Amino acid sequence: MKNLGILLSGRGSNFVAIAENLAAGKIPNTRIAVVISNRSTAPGIEAAKKRGLTAVVVSSKGRDRREHDSEMAAVLKDHEVDLICLAGYMRLLSPWFVQQFPRRILNIHPSLLPAFPGLEAQQQAFAYGVKVSGCTVHFVDEELDHGPIVVQRAIPVLDTDNEHILAARILEQEHIAYSEAINLVLEGKFEIIGRKMVRKISDR
Ligand code: GRF
Repeated sequence: MKNLGILLSGRGSNFVAIAENLAAGKIPNTRIAVVISNRSTAPGIEAAKKRGLTAVVVSSKGRDRREHDSEMAAVLKDHEVDLICLAGYMRLLSPWFVQQFPRRILNIHPSLLPAFPGLEAQQQAFAYGVKVSGCTVHFVDEELDHGPIVVQRAIPVLDTDNEHILAARILEQEHIAYSEAINLVLEGKFEIIGRKMVRKISDR
């Protein structure tokens, strides 16, 4: 059984989608070992409690990043987490934290990276006038929205979209993409060559 650790700060819809896909058997031999929020008021942490999951608040308010990260790392290690999924975790992780879990942290971003990293990616894309957008699940490295890409899902931007409709349509794709990425990573049949995640030669 593989253990997931979820980090979130807010709404938690990506976390809920992962939990539902787990319950539906779409991510086999895997469970959510712990959900951590850096904000006590995050709706996502309430959703985790309602599901009977281990839900921990490690408040980041007014705290040094490295000290906060080391407390989170201790919780994740206590729960023997195999893979950490950032699901709307709105705080930069320290390089130290990233180094504790090499190739074991995923993030989801609501654009086709490397386009529109950072905050409000959907609004950035809409304002730019792109014709295609989507979402990216990638390994976390020490730079923001940067590590090797695991899964991308693209959608056309429609003339009938506004930035809110586009964001909602991208979110639907996020809810599919994250579980796809978790399955690929936990299956382990890949190597990272440069920035590229490729299937291992023996498995092709
Ligand atoms: C999502 O759009 C995700 O791509 C971004 O933050 C948002 C989190 O939404 N990183 P939710 O909390 O999972 O609903």
